[in-house]
Amino acid sequence: MALAAVVLAAGKGTRMKSRRPKVLHRVAGKPMVAHVIKAARKVGVDRLIVVAGYGFEDVAAAVEPEAEVVCQAEQLGTAHAVMQAEKRLTGFEGDILVLCGDTPLLTGQTLSGLVAHHRNTGAAATVLTARLDDPFGYGRVLRDAAGMVRRIVEQKDGSPDELTVQEINTGVYCFRHAGFFETLHRITPQNKQGEFYLTDIIEMYVTGERPVVSYLLDDFRETLGVNDRRQLAEADRLMRERVLNALMAAGVTVVDPASTFVEDGVTVGMDTVIHPFSFLEGSTTVGEDCTIGPATRLINAQIGDGSTVQQSVIVDSRVGLQANIGPYAYIRPGSEVGDGVKIGDFVEIKKSRIGTGSKVPHLSYIGDAVIGSGVNVGAGTITCNYDGVKKWTTIIEDGAFIGSNTNLVAPVRVGEGAYVGAGSTITKDVPPGALGVARGPQTNIKDWVQKKKGRTEDKANV
Ligand code: UD1
Ligand code: CA
Repeated sequence: MALAAVVLAAGKGTRMKSRRPKVLHRVAGKPMVAHVIKAARKVGVDRLIVVAGYGFEDVAAAVEPEAEVVCQAEQLGTAHAVMQAEKRLTGFEGDILVLCGDTPLLTGQTLSGLVAHHRNTGAAATVLTARLDDPFGYGRVLRDAAGMVRRIVEQKDGSPDELTVQEINTGVYCFRHAGFFETLHRITPQNKQGEFYLTDIIEMYVTGERPVVSYLLDDFRETLGVNDRRQLAEADRLMRERVLNALMAAGVTVVDPASTFVEDGVTVGMDTVIHPFSFLEGSTTVGEDCTIGPATRLINAQIGDGSTVQQSVIVDSRVGLQANIGPYAYIRPGSEVGDGVKIGDFVEIKKSRIGTGSKVPHLSYIGDAVIGSGVNVGAGTITCNYDGVKKWTTIIEDGAFIGSNTNLVAPVRVGEGAYVGAGSTITKDVPPGALGVARGPQTNIKDWVQKKKGRTEDKANV
C-alpha cells in the first residue's frame, strides 16, 4: 500500500525566541526537519510533503528537492497545517503519516513499527504515544475504562486530573486516507489557544466509530519535541550520543563521549581514536587507525588511514595516509596534504598541495603553493602570495630544501633538488640543483663593543 508523509514545519517556534524558523535550528549539525525527513525516507514513503509557513523560503530551500513544500500562510494550528497538503494528495490512496518537524530524534525504525501496527490492526488512525516521568507540555492520551484511546487533551486545556496522565501524544500519527481530510474540515478551534488542533480528530474518529489504536514507543527519548533552547541542547546531546554509540559499535574509540562532538553523516574508520574536545563536522570522513584530537576541529575534511591530527583545525581539505598534523596547525579550504606529510606547530596552509613525505614542521604560512614530494620547508618560511591585488602561486619542486625564515615572493619557482639559504627573500626562480641566497652579506666590525663602551663612559664623565 502507498504511504505519504506530511511533515508539519510552519510554526515560528515562539518559545525558541529566534528569528530563524524553529525546524531549521540544528541538531548534530543538521536542521531538525532534515532528521525527520531522513526518518520518513527510511520507511520508504512514496510522497513527502513539508508544510512550511514562518520563514517559508528558508525552510523550502532546506528541504527541496528532497521533499515537496506547501505553504501554510497563517499558522492556525496543527489540523489546519495538515489541510494544506490536501490538494497535493488528491487521488492519493494509501496511508498518511503525519510528523512534526520539531521531533528530530524519531527513528525510521519507530515509524516502520507504527505503520506496520496501523496496517495489522486495520485502524483508521494510529497515534504514536510514549510514557514520560514528566509529561508537562505534551498532549495527554486519555483512555476509556476498557483502555481504548478516547481523546487527546492539550496541556493548556486539560483538567488537573487529566494532566496527571503520563502517556503523551508524540505528535506522530498514521491515518487511513479515506475520510481523513473530510474529518479535518470539521475541526473547530474551540480551545484555550483558539487553534485548529489535529489532536481533536481522535475523539471525532472514536465518536464516529472509526477504529483508533495507539503504538507505544519503547524509548521515550525519541519523542522529544523541541520547543525551546533547553530542549534543543537536550536533543543535540541525545543525537550526539546516538552518533557516537554507532561509531563505537563500529570499532572507533571515543575517549570521552561527553566532550566529543561528531555530526550526523560523518564517517570514521575502525581503530581510530578520538580524544576529547574534538569536533567532526559536515561531510568529514576519517580513515582507519587515525588519532584525532585532543582539541581538533575537522570541517568537511577527508583524513586518510593512519594519520594523526592534534590540536588543529582542518577545513574543506584532504589529508593523505600516515600524515602528521599539529599541534596547532590550521589547514584552510582547498588544500591537499599528501601521504606521510608532516605539518607541524603554528603552520597555516591555504589552498595548497603538499606532496608525499614533505615537511612543513614549524611557524610557516603556505598559501597558493604547489609543493612536490620530499621537500623540507624550514621554520618560519612564508609564501608571499598576495601583492595587494592578486594571489600568485609558489612552486617548490621535488626534493627542494627551503632554509629557515625564507620569504618566497610569488609567482616564483624553486626547482627540483634546489636549496634556498636561510633568511632569503626569493623573488626570482631558483633553477633545479642550484642554491638561491638573497640576503645582505654579513659584516663583522672588530672590537665594536669595546669601542662603544668607551664612548658611553666619555659621555657619562662630562
Ligand atoms: C503538539 C500536539 C501535542 C503533542 C506535541 C508533541 C497538537 C494540538 N498538539 O503540541 O498533543 O504532545 O505536539 O510534540 O497538535 N505547526 C504548523 N502549523 C501550525 C501549528 C504548528 O506547521 O499552525 C507545526 C510546528 O511547526 C511544529 C508542529 O506543528 O513543528 C507541532 O506544533 P507545536 O506548536 O510545537 O505543537 P505542540 O504544542 O508541541
Ligand atoms: Ca512541539
